[in-house]
Amino acid sequence: MTQKSPLAWLGGKSRLADQIIERMPPHETYCEVFAGAAWVLFKKPESKVEIINDINSELTNLYRCVKHHLAEVVLQFRWMLVARDDFDRFLRTPADSLTDIQRAARFFYLAKSSFGAKIHKPTFGIAATGAPRLNLLRIEEELSDAHARLARVFIENRPFDQVLQRFDRPGTLFYVDPPYWGCEKDYGEGLFTRDDFARLAALLGACKGKFILSLNDTTGVRETFRDFRIEPVKTRYSISGTAKQEVGEVLITNFKPGRSG
Ligand SMILES: C[S@@+](CC[C@H](N)C(=O)[O-])C[C@H]1O[C@@H](n2cnc3c(N)ncnc32)[C@H](O)[C@@H]1O
Repeated sequence: MTQKSPLAWLGGKSRLADQIIERMPPHETYCEVFAGAAWVLFKKPESKVEIINDINSELTNLYRCVKHHLAEVVLQFRWMLVARDDFDRFLRTPADSLTDIQRAARFFYLAKSSFGAKIHKPTFGIAATGAPRLNLLRIEEELSDAHARLARVFIENRPFDQVLQRFDRPGTLFYVDPPYWGCEKDYGEGLFTRDDFARLAALLGACKGKFILSLNDTTGVRETFRDFRIEPVKTRYSISGTAKQEVGEVLITNFKPGRSG
C-alpha cells in the first residue's frame, strides 16, 4: 500500500522516493537512519522489520503519538485555525511545558504551516497563490493513514552513528538521507557537521548490511564516498510553489542496484 507522508520536510524525498524504492535489494530489516518525513517508508511496501530514526525529538514524539494516541492527537485540532497568531503562539510555547500529545499537535501545526517546511527557525508560510498546506478538514484522514502505516514500525530518537551500529546485520537495508553537503546546519546547530560525512563513510564502509545513501552531487560528496558505487539521478524541487529547479543528486550504494531487488 503506497502512501504519502503526512509531513512536508526540508530535503524530503517525495520526488526521489520511487527511484530509491526500485533500487532496493531483498532485505529483512529496513532502517531509515535520518527519517525526517520518511517519504520512502510511507511509499514503499512493508518489510518484515522496520525502524525509523531521527535526532529531532519533537518529530519522533509526533510519530509515537500518531502511532499510539491517534484520536487524542486529532482532537487537539478541533478548534484550531490556520493563522499567523496561532503559529506565533505555538512558536513561543516551550515544548517541555506541554504533554506529549500537545507537543505532537504543536509540532505538526508548525511543520505544516512553516515556509518551505523549514522547522529550524520556522516562519509562517502564506501566499496569495495557494491554500495552506495544513488542511484542518483532512487531519483525521491524513493522520489515520500514518497511524496504520506506523503500527508495526519501531521509532528511534538517536544520533545516526548509534543507529547504524545497533541495527547492522547482513539482512539489514539502511536508507541514509543526511543533510545535504553544504546544508549541514539546516535542521539545527551542531546536529550534523561537515566532519560527520567522513564518519558516516567509515561506518558505512564497515557495514555488514546494505545501504542506499542519497546526497547532492558535489565534489565533496564524490570524494568522501569514492569507495562506493555512485549513481547520478535527477529530480525537480521547489520551495513553496516557486519555480521547480532541476537538481543533481546521487544515490550511493554498497551493492549493484537492480530494478525491484
Ligand atoms: C534530509 S532530512 C531527511 C528527509 C527524509 N528522507 C524525508 O523524505 O523527509 C535529514 C534529517 O536528518 C536529521 N538529522 C540531522 N542530524 C542528525 C543526526 N546526527 N542523527 C540523526 N538524524 C539527524 C534531521 O533532523 C532531518 O530530519
